[in-house]
Amino acid sequence: MAIRNIREFGDPVLNKVCKEVTEVTPRIRELIEDMLDTMYAANGVGLAAPQVGILKRIVVIDTTGEDPHILINPKIIYTEGEQCGSEGCLSLPGKAGNVTRPMKVKCTAYDVEMNEFTLEGEGLLARAICHECDHLDGHLYTEKVEGDVYETRYEETED
Ligand code: NI
Repeated sequence: MAIRNIREFGDPVLNKVCKEVTEVTPRIRELIEDMLDTMYAANGVGLAAPQVGILKRIVVIDTTGEDPHILINPKIIYTEGEQCGSEGCLSLPGKAGNVTRPMKVKCTAYDVEMNEFTLEGEGLLARAICHECDHLDGHLYTEKVEGDVYETRYEETED
């Protein structure tokens, strides 16, 4: 287990298009384990490989803290509806913004055995799938934000 350094906004690695994974090598298994550890340590609900400096199409997502999803070469194949809500990113710590995403998403991906599967998500899971897939194409939520990116810690003190 190892926690990797999370690249922050402004790091050019976050704007690159990632390469498809063709084989899950021991090195990639280790990367995935580290990505899960890094996501949980940072209290995130998702993390994409470029956020730890690796330009491969791999994301991890866990919106409940007990339901980790590992998605290799994910592709969104269906979306439905719309939700507008607050979204953050571990590459922009302490910040969030309002982003419209589909309410429901269906994607295909490969697991660590390179077996293809389908994942359907609604609400926060749908938002996380979209957000993490965007990372694999070099896109951040800041490109889609409506209004300003705000400091989340100000929100907390105002409550
Ligand atoms: Ni992110």
